[in-house]
Amino acid sequence: MPPRRPTPGSEPAPATYDSLDGQVALVTGANRGIGAEIARRLAELGARVYAGTRSVRNEVPENCEAVPLDVTQEGDVEAAITQIGETAGRLDVLVNNAGVGNFDDPLHEEQTPTIDRTFSVNLRGPTLLSKYALPPLLERPGGRIVNVSSGMGAIGEDQSGGAPAYRVSKTGLNGLTAYLHGEYADQGLLANAVCPGWVDTRMGGEEAPRAVAEGAETPTMLARLRPDTLGGGFWRDGRPIEW
Ligand SMILES: NC(=O)c1ccc[n+]([C@@H]2O[C@H](COP(=O)([O-])OP(=O)(O)OC[C@H]3O[C@@H](n4cnc5c(N)ncnc54)[C@H](OP(=O)(O)O)[C@@H]3O)[C@@H](O)[C@H]2O)c1
Repeated sequence: MPPRRPTPGSEPAPATYDSLDGQVALVTGANRGIGAEIARRLAELGARVYAGTRSVRNEVPENCEAVPLDVTQEGDVEAAITQIGETAGRLDVLVNNAGVGNFDDPLHEEQTPTIDRTFSVNLRGPTLLSKYALPPLLERPGGRIVNVSSGMGAIGEDQSGGAPAYRVSKTGLNGLTAYLHGEYADQGLLANAVCPGWVDTRMGGEEAPRAVAEGAETPTMLARLRPDTLGGGFWRDGRPIEW
């Protein structure tokens, strides 16, 4: 049975691996914030974790291997997946976490370079990462893609309040998630999107009510999903939510 789409509001907790021994994960933007915490947790669970970072001068969490990865650079994306293939020989989990956002301006005041950059990091990056990672992820059933999205991209929610490029990039990322499920679930891929909530990081700011540990909880849960469980969902706080 291929993974099926979860139903918001009425889904029991899906089965997850207790240990990721022998599995390999790539997390983008893993040098700080939510991505660093996801990488740290996956390594703690036993996975071999490649921590994508734009600059090799950045520190990555303990027990993770730094991999140079600016998600806007297709050459970096291809090289990272090749490096993982050559050194680890497999890939089980891709976490598209790297993100940027400008939360101040409505669209008529947003700078065009900001729009371009936001789409490039938040949407084109995960699309290219997925493109290059799919072949190794599909080598065995149960490969996972976790797209770190945002409730700000949920088109069922109020869309006022600025951050146009950020919102639309995350709506697009949700669309990518649905596409990946539609196209590859019958080959065993589990692709899910997740809103981490409003988290105290450089992006979220100090006023954010959530600690990084809480923000990393559901993305990590989705990275631990067992084969044939759930895909094509949008999640927050361990539960599927509306798109
Ligand atoms: N914090 C929140 O409240 C919140 C809410 C909803 C969704 N999210 C999502 O959660 C994810 C992580 O956010 P965060 O709060 O942890 O943000 P953060 O602390 O600002 O970290 C962002 C990470 O993305 C990396 N990054 C930026 N541009 C990149 C690029 N071109 N290539 C590779 N890496 C790049 C940064 O690397 P550098 O250090 O090199 O800049 C950093 O590691 C994002 O996708 C964000 O949209 C966050």
